[in-house]
Amino acid sequence: MTTLDARPSTDALVVAHSPGAPDGEWWRDAVIYQVYPRSFADGSGDGIGDLPGITSRLDHLAELGVDAVWLSPFYRSPQADAGYDVSDYRDVDPLFGTLDDFDAMLARAHGLGLRVIVDLVPNHTSDEHAWFVEALAAGPGSPARERYLFREGRGEDGQEPPNNWQSIFGGPAWTRLPDGQWYLHLFDSRQPDLNWEHPEVRAEFEDVLRFWLDRGVDGFRIDVAHGMVKAPGLPDWDGHVSMIEGSEQAFEEAEHALHEHASGAAERVDEVTGSGNQGPMFDQEGVHDIYRAWHRVLAEYDGDRALVAEAWVEPLSRLARYVRPDEMHQAFNFAFLATLWHAPSLRDVITASYLASDSVGAPTTWVLSNHDVVRHASRLGLATPGSRPNGIGADDEQPDEELGLRRARCATLLMLGLPGSAYLYQGEELGLPDHTTLPADVRQDPAFFRTQGAELGRDGCRVPLPWSAQEPGFGFSPTGEAWLPQPSTWARYAADAQRGVPGSTYETYRTALRVRRAEALGSGGLTWLPSRDDVLDLVNRDVRVVANLGTEPVELPAGTRVLLASGPLDAAADGTLLIGSDTTVWVRP
Ligand code: BGC
Repeated sequence: MTTLDARPSTDALVVAHSPGAPDGEWWRDAVIYQVYPRSFADGSGDGIGDLPGITSRLDHLAELGVDAVWLSPFYRSPQADAGYDVSDYRDVDPLFGTLDDFDAMLARAHGLGLRVIVDLVPNHTSDEHAWFVEALAAGPGSPARERYLFREGRGEDGQEPPNNWQSIFGGPAWTRLPDGQWYLHLFDSRQPDLNWEHPEVRAEFEDVLRFWLDRGVDGFRIDVAHGMVKAPGLPDWDGHVSMIEGSEQAFEEAEHALHEHASGAAERVDEVTGSGNQGPMFDQEGVHDIYRAWHRVLAEYDGDRALVAEAWVEPLSRLARYVRPDEMHQAFNFAFLATLWHAPSLRDVITASYLASDSVGAPTTWVLSNHDVVRHASRLGLATPGSRPNGIGADDEQPDEELGLRRARCATLLMLGLPGSAYLYQGEELGLPDHTTLPADVRQDPAFFRTQGAELGRDGCRVPLPWSAQEPGFGFSPTGEAWLPQPSTWARYAADAQRGVPGSTYETYRTALRVRRAEALGSGGLTWLPSRDDVLDLVNRDVRVVANLGTEPVELPAGTRVLLASGPLDAAADGTLLIGSDTTVWVRP
């Protein structure tokens, strides 16, 4: 057992981040909830979530206490990549409703005090977008083909692709047309990459931004924000192309580096957060001009509209360049999401995150789950907790559900105790795990098909939400239909089974968000207190956050009052409260 120091000497404190003004721009400290429209709530009964379904459940989000909602794409799309293949950026897909439904949803959200961010997918369009249809019809050499990346092949008769790039979803990143030309697609062959050197492409997307800003949205999440500009000449690259899996090795290397050096993480941001080389398709200098132009577009509007970058860029010092004062406002901090369940690594990545974002005056943005990764309740229940398989199937190691949930709650309270903005993924407030035994015949992720099943893909984290324990389909749809099957055991996760139940995951999130707001933790500061290696102990304003990732309990600091705990606390023989394994507490002196 370890006793925490109630008043450590100031020499032992490490200030990682200083508090800001509590009333800065809303996005600096906002908690933003990701709605994945097809799986949130179905109003029409076809088994696919939609905008009226979202509107009908917005009070759940207001009651939860988030500040804003980010909606994954609901635009017109053939759904080759669940809507990340847009055929019309200015319309709603009939699957999800109509523009009027969107306006009604936005009005209801604003009425409840929730801001709304929408997803913009500028790296590629759908193959059914009018521009691509026109480009195919117009043929090689036509101006219409200039808007995309069409090239002649290599080798005899151009039979080889123009370069050796691989698609992130598996297979070559080029597809050949009957007329002999090839076109580039970093993702599925139904997602052709746009040519961002083309002025019409730039003008079109500024206009699309204005279309949604005029409708009243509060910002945009920019898909593949690091990918739009490619290196001149599209040179070959032998590295591994990935956004979703795999920086575990980089983190193992970083961890090794940590033990080699005695100094704090501050000077070692780059070592702690990855190697940086992602090849000629990512993180090119030219992307920054695009964001400077978009920043100016948003600045024409009132209300602190915001841009958030989905940029899988390493190290964090490179990511910080996306959020310089005249570019985007936030960038997802995937380095934190990718860190293994290991207290020294987490401490270092957190410190490095502040160093990187403070260097450009941007907020740090925390996230543990989204629609592209195995949910953190499942990742943290694996034998290597926090590792990131590309989907989990019945033949794979099955996560320990109870342990995963306990660690997920511990991780979430650590995250929500940190200054900065935080993103929640729908269902994590219910403690949802992935569906880890989905059969092959229901899978829909293009990555599953493009790798012939070698990568299971992301369907497991996209299963429709359980709202009511007793209703068919757990109340997701009035007909009980669901586009992906829900595990039969999910009644215990249903929202109505947790609402009002003290200590439930839902009520724990709700309390955390209330205290976070009341104590202005989002705009607070972070000071590390000295602690055992497997314990994270920090102070943010008047709240002390202690996360015990070790196996031995820690005594609650003397004279403190518990505001919130991620799990039950035991008492020692003398009555002292103990913070058990994989538990976070928030206390007040
Ligand atoms: C989105 C994915 C999508 C990909 C291609 C990602 O970053 O989050 O869901 O498949 O971009 O648009």
